[in-house]
Amino acid sequence: MIRGLIVAGVVALGVSAVVAQTSVIKDRQDAMKQMGAATKGPGGMLKGTEPFNLATVQTSLRSIADAATKAQPLFPEGSGQGDTAAAPKIWQTKADFDNKMKGLAAAANKALADIKDEATFKTSFPEVAKNCGGCHTDYRLKRG
Ligand code: HEC
Repeated sequence: MIRGLIVAGVVALGVSAVVAQTSVIKDRQDAMKQMGAATKGPGGMLKGTEPFNLATVQTSLRSIADAATKAQPLFPEGSGQGDTAAAPKIWQTKADFDNKMKGLAAAANKALADIKDEATFKTSFPEVAKNCGGCHTDYRLKRG
């Protein structure tokens, strides 16, 4: 009887660990989707397919900084299994990974302060965007 309860308890714990991991994966993917959505407008402005708009750029940069801050704690040890493109390397060089995420937030905040017009946008925004690929190359698995 007691043994059965212990087994049930362990199974329940195991299930909640899986649920917790699934939600942390979903939460970080949502933060990344937020970054992707925020990068679209300024990306179009850089390419010239969209007119420059300072307010949109500022909203995007705030959203990127916010998403990077949200994503920071969403890569706990052991969350590399499941429906995720997070590379195992994240947990081998976690300090570097964490610095890259902090670096993105810092770059977005710096650009927010630096961008005053289209010219400063064209020099500063790419400095933010290069952080995306700079992390994905090492730490995001290609899927599909
Ligand atoms: C410090 C590392 C890091 C930085 C910086 C970073 N990403 Fe990511 N990104 C990841 C990882 C890791 C994943 C895979 C997450 C997973 O599947 O659990 C990911 C996944 C994504 C996804 C797919 C999300 C989904 O639907 O599954 C998008 C879109 C994305 N990133 C956009 C961006 C953009 C845009 C930027 C820059 C503004 C950026 N990322 C910066 C590490 C990073």
